[in-house]
Amino acid sequence: MKKIILTFFTVAALIVACDPDDDTVKAVYDPTPYALDYGDFPNPSLPADNKPTVAGVQLGRMLFYEKMLSKDGSQACADCHLQQDAFSDIRQFSIGVEQLPGKRQAMAVFNLAWHKNGMFWDGRSPKVRDQALKPIQDPLEMNETLANAVAKLKADQRYTDQFIRAFGDDIITSERMGLSMEQFEFTMISNQSKFDKYLAGTATLTESEERGRVLFNTEYDPFFGIKGAECFHCHAGYNFTNDQYMNNGLDADADFKDEGRFKVTNDPADKAKFKVPSLRNIELTSPYMHDGRFTTLEEVVEHYNSGVKNSSTVDPLMQYNLNPGLQLSAQDKADLIAF
Ligand code: HEC
Ligand code: HEC
Repeated sequence: MKKIILTFFTVAALIVACDPDDDTVKAVYDPTPYALDYGDFPNPSLPADNKPTVAGVQLGRMLFYEKMLSKDGSQACADCHLQQDAFSDIRQFSIGVEQLPGKRQAMAVFNLAWHKNGMFWDGRSPKVRDQALKPIQDPLEMNETLANAVAKLKADQRYTDQFIRAFGDDIITSERMGLSMEQFEFTMISNQSKFDKYLAGTATLTESEERGRVLFNTEYDPFFGIKGAECFHCHAGYNFTNDQYMNNGLDADADFKDEGRFKVTNDPADKAKFKVPSLRNIELTSPYMHDGRFTTLEEVVEHYNSGVKNSSTVDPLMQYNLNPGLQLSAQDKADLIAF
């Protein structure tokens, strides 16, 4: 019942939003809460000062798809975070409005309501709302000033109306833009995978997927001859991430090109550490790693199996990956990928 009412409000909001010429319809503040549908996931502790409302989410969605936020009106968030690719980019480096490539691979955007430890590969934005204003100003991305972006929205009645519905008045600020995009991004939830259905008892894994699941969750013990891929240490829990910054052995010290977390903390122990990404939707989010160096999951698994490089900050959990290597057979690797 609740769902039906919400759908009704969304539709009503859309109709009003799509009809800016009809000045008989006056926008009014609408605090109807947006009910996040997160199934069996634990409760996300949403920020007390920004609980999603139907009108706020709708505004955030408009902004996420709004090309006006870029300098020349050619690029929206959604042009680098494509829905069909789990809101990520299949290009190794996205191209911004000045036709310049970025420096890192675009991250998939979903389940952010459960990320409690910062946004971006290096975590430089503490909250989703701070993150949302960065790409607008990034010279390699949308390359626009916040003042110009706000001015463009102010000149568009659809936005003055939607700010009234979301915030109660038509004052458009970058802070409110961040808050509404944060609300919208909280609604991008991935919890309907085959794995979720398996956990709920409504789907069964194939033999290969099941062997992959066990390998994923088992610690390798070369002395007792127990095979394991140890992925669960870092890609842990329902969201397949421990929300930490780690070095998974992509490079030796001399080859650190991107200092990752170090740029934020200035702590040498954080050099070349990056956010442990969720592995949900992984088949859609190629290429892989912060620099998109791997194109296939086969390459990723071979990296963990035999390609991990030693360095001053490589995670201690990688000791067996380094020596003697995980010793996975071709079948083991196929099973892991199937899972
Ligand atoms: C030109 C391509 C491009 C555009 C446009 C773009 N992004 Fe991104 N996005 C990226 C890249 C690349 C990263 C990773 C950058 C890094 O870590 O330094 C990223 C990272 C993110 C993250 C971090 C996810 C996480 O798990 O930490 C979020 C959230 C995000 N973008 C949302 C947005 C929003 C909202 C907009 C629009 C205001 C936007 N992006 C516009 C390319 C883009
Ligand atoms: C010590 C922690 C750790 C372990 C163990 C680990 N990973 Fe990772 N994983 C990471 C980190 C950190 C990254 C991001 C590294 C980067 O981009 O620099 C990553 C990235 C990935 C990616 C790329 C995701 C993307 O969106 O680009 C995949 C796929 C992946 N890991 C799969 C696995 C599998 C499969 C295993 C087990 C064989 C595993 N990982 C074990 C920490 C770990």
